[in-house]
Amino acid sequence: MSLEDVPSSSDPYRLPRHMIPSRYDLRLEPDLAVASFSGEATIALTVKQTTKTIQLNAVDLVIESATIEGVKGQTFTASVELEPDTQRAKLTVGEPIPPGECRLHLSFHGKLNDQLRGFYRSTYKDATGARQSLAATQFEATDARRAFPCWDEPDFKAVFATTLVVDPRLTAVSNTSVIAESIENNKKVIRFAETINMSTYLVAFVVGQIEATPPRFVGRTPLRLWTVPGKHSLTSFGHDIAVASLTFFENYYGVPYPGDKLDLLAIPDFASGAMENLGAITFRETALLVDQQTGTHAELERIADVVAHENAHMWFGDLVTMAWWNGLWLNEAFATFMEMLAVDAWKPEWKRWDSFAVARAAAFSVDGLVSTRPIEYPVRAPKDADAMFDILTYEKGASVLRMLEQHIGSTAFRDGVRQYLRTHAYGNADTKDLWTALGTVARQPVPELMDGWIFQPGFPLVTAEVEGNHLRLLQQRFTYITETSTAGQLWQIPVQIRLSIGDRTEHRKLLLTERETSIRLPAGVTSVFVNEGGHGFYRVRHQGLLLQQLLDQGLECLAAIERFALISDAWATTMAGLTPLPEFLRLPTHFKNERNKNVWTVLLDSFSFLNRIVSSDDRAVLEAFVRGCVKPAFNELGWEPRSGESDLDRQLRGDLLGALGKLGNDAATQQEAAERYQRYRNDLTTVDPNIVPALVTILAHTGDQTRYDEFSERYRTATTPQEERRYLFSLATFRLPSAAKRTLERTINGEIRTQDAPFIVGALLSNVHSREQAWDFVKANWDQMDRLFPKQGLRRMCGGIVGLATPELEKDVRGFFTSRKIDLGGKTLDQYLEQLRVAVSFREREGGTVRAVLMNATE
Ligand code: BES
Ligand code: ZN
Repeated sequence: MSLEDVPSSSDPYRLPRHMIPSRYDLRLEPDLAVASFSGEATIALTVKQTTKTIQLNAVDLVIESATIEGVKGQTFTASVELEPDTQRAKLTVGEPIPPGECRLHLSFHGKLNDQLRGFYRSTYKDATGARQSLAATQFEATDARRAFPCWDEPDFKAVFATTLVVDPRLTAVSNTSVIAESIENNKKVIRFAETINMSTYLVAFVVGQIEATPPRFVGRTPLRLWTVPGKHSLTSFGHDIAVASLTFFENYYGVPYPGDKLDLLAIPDFASGAMENLGAITFRETALLVDQQTGTHAELERIADVVAHENAHMWFGDLVTMAWWNGLWLNEAFATFMEMLAVDAWKPEWKRWDSFAVARAAAFSVDGLVSTRPIEYPVRAPKDADAMFDILTYEKGASVLRMLEQHIGSTAFRDGVRQYLRTHAYGNADTKDLWTALGTVARQPVPELMDGWIFQPGFPLVTAEVEGNHLRLLQQRFTYITETSTAGQLWQIPVQIRLSIGDRTEHRKLLLTERETSIRLPAGVTSVFVNEGGHGFYRVRHQGLLLQQLLDQGLECLAAIERFALISDAWATTMAGLTPLPEFLRLPTHFKNERNKNVWTVLLDSFSFLNRIVSSDDRAVLEAFVRGCVKPAFNELGWEPRSGESDLDRQLRGDLLGALGKLGNDAATQQEAAERYQRYRNDLTTVDPNIVPALVTILAHTGDQTRYDEFSERYRTATTPQEERRYLFSLATFRLPSAAKRTLERTINGEIRTQDAPFIVGALLSNVHSREQAWDFVKANWDQMDRLFPKQGLRRMCGGIVGLATPELEKDVRGFFTSRKIDLGGKTLDQYLEQLRVAVSFREREGGTVRAVLMNATE
């Protein structure tokens, strides 16, 4: 081997490590008018091994020149070769570069694209109706390489010193404060302070006619919100939670905020919800801006969640970063967990941990598939990195953290987190590092406990039954479809049990590590609840007598989160064929007095599922069944809010109303909804905001062409992001085929933003009245959608196929994805297809008797 040969990595997607960048001096000059940019980068490098080649990432860039300045001042000019398949640039020099320090100078240019990734263009209409542009960035996971050539892997951390050269009428924001501003050649030249040592995916620039709120300070950190002109009245709520959560995190983490300022920017076109660029967090408008007077509880909670989540990342993700994308959960699960803690501390009355149960249940529904994956999972290609941003990383990850926190205690957990952050600040870490910190502080064998939850796919079903004077607990992997290969899996399960003995309660805590165990029951036990508090990431089957005792005793004896677990677990075992459908459908009668919106979410979701699998002949019977369940609860709440009611009750009213009018197809409710909607149009203050989404949904569901046109207009002229979104989604709710056709066309003709279009198609695929039409449209326009829509949007859109729950459609769906060789990254497509299989096999199993069962249950 000659001296200058560098072993190229066997993985074409990883860069060789013989050169390590430590600092980037970037100068970028975007031109909004022609949607292009030019740039220069000077990258300080440490050469570890003599070499003639430099490999770094670049894609869709033209590199005009590359020169290397060595230690002794000698300069090498490199030839440049781009490798589009691996998104790399290979620079080659004539003479070997010796080990030591050197500087790489690059000049390049590229386009401001419309794909909402890399350096891209977003557009909006100003107050006069004229179209305006701004430029923004979205680099995670692997798109910094589209804005400047770089070592675009999370463990190549470096310092960034950015200069933006812009039209003097525009404003520019980046990760740090502005340190100098001048005019050169009729351009505004803005220099930003150096960043901390950080990953490329966290770099950000936003350039446009954007306006900031006055700063509010958290300690010394100025915190501002930015919007396009005219939206300042929508910033106060986001600002409040931003200040509250930043304060909360500085206290919890015991480490000061790592940036020198914090800007939160609302971008009109944005692929995901928000992005945690250090000091310059970007958001889609619905995730940051809201009118507090007209926003619903769910809309306000969404903003609180997203803002708290991104702020949590300033430490978890930005200060300490996963070494590679297989460990993405360290970023996202933690940010999700911390989001709950912060929002719960800010608004305890929202009971955020209770509604987190809904997210946990969503994770169960994917993790119950044979095609699930472990939380930590190998990643090679960029597509696979993108596919890691899923429910398993976020919601399963956050759930197992919550389980661990409850198991070792919240103080030990917090102190372990502090130690982890202090140890790895400005660097990278992996799962083992986290267990080491938590285990040391808690003095408990954390890796042994947690490895099964992070490195194994799936989760356990715990079956609980009484045998004599013992309680027997048995674990097995939960799957919807029987699969023998999963039989041997075991977890270390922290189990909390509550025993009721008449009026007295006793608590038991144990770690179930074997397949089964049993504990002795004290004399006179009247009921047993397994998974007390509902924190465990497992489902429970209370068998026979145990279930009967809980029901006899009355469900009001359980906490809301426990009632949620009971019904959610019962529904899951029904879908898996372990509980007969009639038995499940008897349960809603026990929830007659239920006033918890999360518990109702499970019930309503189970009805929606049935709606997707019943034949159209049976739909009327299902509707009657839904009315029978929902009406008593809704009548009891009434149409009007009562004094002293909580935000959660108001939300529940909206949820029940929507279900009654749409799934229940209740004529009287539809009539009254139309009247109230008219009143609302005349005077927005006459109706509680929380029922407005339901009114709009019901009116769309029952609407004709005139109403479609009216709602289209309301979408176009909406004054808040939430109102715009509400009317946009209503366009996917009409039952008229002509309306569905029109909405589908608008998803690809530019009338609907590409940030939203895939979700609208997804909604049409899930709507039983439009699903076939939508599916035909997707097949016919796949290539165009693939080109137009942001990648993650396209992936989410495909999630809509799980609603195509007939044997014929299922076959067609499989055929399409196979013949077109479509890869959605990771295991995404396999999971959607298996969810569809689960739904269709449920239909095949229960479809014949569901009518009789529903009629029986209605009586
Ligand atoms: N890091 C993500 C943003 C992201 C998502 C980048 C997908 C690349 C691909 C950000 O922190 C995030 O998680 N955003 C969530 C919202 C959050 C409240 C769960 C989102 O965008 O949905
Ligand atoms: Zn996140």
